[in-house]
Amino acid sequence: MKIKALISLLADGMIHSGASLAAEFGVSRTAIWKLVNRAAEKGYRIETIRGKGYRLTESVDLLDYDALLATIPAVYRDRIQLQVMDTVDSTNAEVIRRRSSGQSGILICLADTQTAGRGRRGRVWQSPAGDNLYLSLGLTLRGGFSAIEGLSLVIGVALAEALEALGVGDIGLKWPNDLQSQGKKLAGILIELQGELEGAAQVVAGVGLNVHMIQAPAVDQAWTSLALVGGSAQKWKRNEIAATLIVSVLDAVESFSEQGFSAFRERWQQRDVFLGQPLTTSQREIQGVGRGIDESGHYRVETPDGIEVVRAGEISLRMDL
Ligand code: BTN
Repeated sequence: MKIKALISLLADGMIHSGASLAAEFGVSRTAIWKLVNRAAEKGYRIETIRGKGYRLTESVDLLDYDALLATIPAVYRDRIQLQVMDTVDSTNAEVIRRRSSGQSGILICLADTQTAGRGRRGRVWQSPAGDNLYLSLGLTLRGGFSAIEGLSLVIGVALAEALEALGVGDIGLKWPNDLQSQGKKLAGILIELQGELEGAAQVVAGVGLNVHMIQAPAVDQAWTSLALVGGSAQKWKRNEIAATLIVSVLDAVESFSEQGFSAFRERWQQRDVFLGQPLTTSQREIQGVGRGIDESGHYRVETPDGIEVVRAGEISLRMDL
C-alpha cells in the first residue's frame, strides 16, 4: 500500500476514520495506522484525532501523472513518454536508463524526490520530497553535438518565459543557465549528452526548480523558491507548473532546431544578470565587465585588452561585488 494513495485521500483536509480508510484500501485498521506512521516519518503532517480518525494538517501538492498529462496540449501529449515517480536516484539518470533500454521519442521523467540528484560540476542537487520540481527531458537534436551549443541557454529562456507566464516577475538568467530571482538561485539546468545517433544528438535536459522550499540548511549557495518570491497568497501547483515548463521547453527546442540560436539571443540577453556588471570567470580568471552573449551563446567579457569570449560550458562567472 502506497503512502501517496493515503495522502491523496487525506488531501481534502477532512477527518477520515481509520475504518473508512481501511475499507477504502481493503486492509486492516492496524495497516492504516502503520501507513500513517510511515507517512509521518516521510514528513507529512498527519494529526491523529482520538476516536475520530486522521487529518492532514497542512495542504500537500502531489505530483500526479493524470493531472499533469491532462494539462499538456494534445499536440505534445501524443508525442511524449511521461513518467511520474515517487522516488528515484536522479531523473536524468532515469531518462538515460530508459533510452539505453530502447525507449525512444521524447522521454520525460519527474520525481517527487531524488536520492542522488545531480548538479553541475559534480555537485549534489538537494531534492527534498514534496517541495520542488525535479524534471528531465530526453530530447533528440538534429545536427549532432554542434547543435547543442546554446541548448542550455535556450532552455533557460523557455523556463524563464514559462515562469513569467505563471506570474513570476523579475526572472534573471545567470550564464550559462541558472535562473535567478531577486539575485538568488531559483532553478538550475543540467544538460547531459548520451551519445550520437546518425548525426542526431541524444540529450537529457534536467531542471531543478525550487517551488515550496522555505528552508534548506544543506544548500550551500544563495537560493530562493517560488513560495518565497511569488507571494504567499499564490498557491503553487507542481502539476500545473511542470506542464507549463514542459510545453515551453518543447516549443523552444523545436524552434531552436528549426531556426538556430538567433531567435533566442535577444530573449536571453534581456534577462542577463551580468550585463554591465564587473565579473571574474572561474577559470582563466578573466576580469572585466559583462557584455552579453554572442550569436552562438558564448559569454562576452569586456577587459582592458578588448572583448574576451568565454566558451566552455563548465566555466562559471561570479559577480565582483
Ligand atoms: C545546477 O547545478 O544548477 C543544475 C541542477 C540540475 C538539477 C536537476 S533536478 C532534475 C534533474 N535530475 C538531476 O539529477 N539533476 C537535474
